[in-house]
Amino acid sequence: MSDAGKTNRPIKFGGYHQPKDRPAEELTARVGPGTPCGEYLRRFWHPIMLTTQLDERPHPIRILGEDLVIYRDLSGDVGLLHRHCAHRGASLEFGIIADHGIRCCYHGWMYGNDGTILETPGEPADSPHRERYCQGAYPVVEYEDIIFAYMGPPERRPEFPILDAMVLPDNTMVPYLIHSPCNWQQVSENSMDPFHVPFLHTRVAGPQFSEVFEQLPVIEYHETRLGFFYTNARRVGDYVWVRMHDHVLPNFSQNGAIFENVGRVRYFGRPGLTRWVVPVDDTNTMVIAWRHFNDRDDPQHLGKPEEVGVGKTDFYGQSGERPFAERQRTPGDYEAWTSQGPITSHEREHLATTDRGVALLRRKLRSEIEKLQQGTEPTPLEAGKGPHIPTFGGDTILRIPVDGSDDVELIKAVSRKIAAAYVEFQDLPDAQRRAAIADRLAPLNVGDTATINPSHGKIFEFKPVA
Ligand code: FES
Ligand SMILES: [Fe+2]
Repeated sequence: MSDAGKTNRPIKFGGYHQPKDRPAEELTARVGPGTPCGEYLRRFWHPIMLTTQLDERPHPIRILGEDLVIYRDLSGDVGLLHRHCAHRGASLEFGIIADHGIRCCYHGWMYGNDGTILETPGEPADSPHRERYCQGAYPVVEYEDIIFAYMGPPERRPEFPILDAMVLPDNTMVPYLIHSPCNWQQVSENSMDPFHVPFLHTRVAGPQFSEVFEQLPVIEYHETRLGFFYTNARRVGDYVWVRMHDHVLPNFSQNGAIFENVGRVRYFGRPGLTRWVVPVDDTNTMVIAWRHFNDRDDPQHLGKPEEVGVGKTDFYGQSGERPFAERQRTPGDYEAWTSQGPITSHEREHLATTDRGVALLRRKLRSEIEKLQQGTEPTPLEAGKGPHIPTFGGDTILRIPVDGSDDVELIKAVSRKIAAAYVEFQDLPDAQRRAAIADRLAPLNVGDTATINPSHGKIFEFKPVA
């Protein structure tokens, strides 16, 4: 932090002495081609669009500060090309979709989905242009109604990563995409900031999810090969509720069930959503995610798949669609992260004890960017010994009443045992992993685990303050 932000002692009515500028974060915020963070982000696959958004027309799209065009050709393949034609720059959003590729409207040059110039109809037959040039193109993968792209060096293209949460049994995945007019890091850091939940989502304007979130959580962070997971624990009556969160670098996160009321013992619940935070450019961001719907994690069917899609999801405060006055009275995540500004200023912040997760994440992100600047490629997202890349997001709830000892220490000890079991069995397929974790953790329960206490955590259908 610069001296400009410091005073020896707080000065009452001392606005005059405080810095007025908010210098934008640079290293981790800039995502364009050639920037350190932009280069780092270009080493990974990112979701860029929902399949349902792609109709018979070419669509202009902007990702990582690059203007692109995306289309589905008549054979059904998806192409992702630089938007401006290699000939004289007309936008391919006005192109004519072909059987295999797209034809520029201006002089008819035709491009394959890999950027090859297939035809230059106005040129002589022996024109060298087709061999000499090509259109910028990126590979894409469609997976469960989301289109992913890889925009990095072709020779470094990693395998498309299949995370365990993408292949859960008896589970329905419904994708959504929501735009936020701010830097990607502000949106991304929200999920390494568990202490905003008791405030923003509970105490400030009433509970937005469940009233049990009002308690300050007991948090422990664990670093993994791919980033972090953390245990987010609370006491709820006779139960210890441990929510696991994933934060895989650079921009992937998962949390527990969206609607959990801690009414039962359970082991290794799985995430309510699987989410990427994708930079459009330095000051625009998309959340692209799947909401998961299944009986294991939402037995009361409180999730609403019909409310999930383009610009919307079925839980509170994720988009800017509400009337401004309502957003002021009952702000959600969207209001918090967008109001930090187009690119927030790390220099003007004052990080505190609740920001440990954010600080860990920033340090790791900076270090990965700097390592790449020095020539070390990032750790690829690859499966370990199991069939898929293991993740940890989801809820475990054990019946462990207060026993007269320091309860925070008790909750921490339980959290650590749960984390250890999750890690130990991480390479097993989902059902076997759940069974192994249950076997390991069941002896920790005390008393009658069949007891269901419906008054534990009341789930809220949030009504804005009138
Ligand atoms: S500008 Fe595209 S073919 Fe001429
Ligand atoms: Fe939140």
